[in-house]
Amino acid sequence: MTINYPKKVTIIEVGPRDGLQNEKQFVPTEIKAKFIETLFDSGVTEMEITSFVSPKWVPQMKDASEIVRASNSILKKKIVLVPNEKGIELALEQKCNALAVFVGVSDTFNKRNINKTTKESLDELIPRIKRLKQMGIFLRACISTAFYCPFEGKIEKAKVIELCRAFVDAGIDELSVADTIGMANPIECYDLFKDLKFLFPNTLITAHFHDTRKMALANIFASLQAGVDRFDSSAGGLGGCPFAPGATGNVATEDVVYMLNQMGIETGIDLKRLLAAIDLITSEMDRPLESGQYKLHLQERLKQA
Ligand code: HMG
Ligand code: MG
Repeated sequence: MTINYPKKVTIIEVGPRDGLQNEKQFVPTEIKAKFIETLFDSGVTEMEITSFVSPKWVPQMKDASEIVRASNSILKKKIVLVPNEKGIELALEQKCNALAVFVGVSDTFNKRNINKTTKESLDELIPRIKRLKQMGIFLRACISTAFYCPFEGKIEKAKVIELCRAFVDAGIDELSVADTIGMANPIECYDLFKDLKFLFPNTLITAHFHDTRKMALANIFASLQAGVDRFDSSAGGLGGCPFAPGATGNVATEDVVYMLNQMGIETGIDLKRLLAAIDLITSEMDRPLESGQYKLHLQERLKQA
């Protein structure tokens, strides 16, 4: 068997956004800011730090402006999520220069998540993307429910490609293609990502896996074979979309970093420092974390105590 893999992979840390958005108890802004700082210190180069969404819908993200201001001195790529025109305006007020829009392939999911059909979202966002590109803003499009939807079931590949094409034609820099409820299998991932890499050779293609059924590492391996070298992951395996029943945490960054390191693939992330960043955020959680690497880290600590 020939195993294809890149020498280097970029991890886009989504813990401060996808990881925390589903937490019921509000995490104080200064802890979030410290979490972001320590994650960047561990070697992360790109991160979703917050989202400009309605505080009524996602109360955990109500401090988005403060988070951006607190991270001002960090020069690496700080991405903020924006669902609509209002979110874009708020992000621009804070001088953000890397924005992520998010749209579901499934209409039903999109309606539950941002109260618009997929077409209504596109009609609002596409003309805006063109103007944002003229302003020199980095733009990422998160494509939700690219494999399965909790309401509509299996999603047709042609519909995913059609949605991706709309964003690519508008000039987007990156597509982050998501298995929102962690249902995809490695063959489906290989199949979709192989096509996306072929069809959109000039766009950054990133895979975003939730680990509901513990298939995320296998899906990452399959996506590497398809030529993907960018993965979203969340420190501690935190995360999930509040409007996608069944969406548990993202694949844990520490497990991805460990696997890639063992395979000789560079990530630039220091595992020990990453685990220290997770120590900081676990003090705010009322449950144990599920990731293999973090459990081992706790066992080591107990042995040394
Ligand atoms: P709506 O109720 O239809 O909004 O919600 P509206 O336009 O009717 O406005 C209602 C109120 O919200 C108004 O305020 C607006 O100003 C305000 P009021 O007059 O009542 O005081 N508003 C906003 N406030 C802050 N930021 C905004 C904004 N827009 C309107 N951007 C809305 C529509 C999109 C706002 C709402 O549905 C929402 O906030 N949804 C966010 C959902 C969300 O954050 N989901 C999680 C992120 S996506 C995800 O996790 C998936 C991903 O990880 C990939 C994957 O795994 O699939 C990316
Ligand atoms: Mg997600």
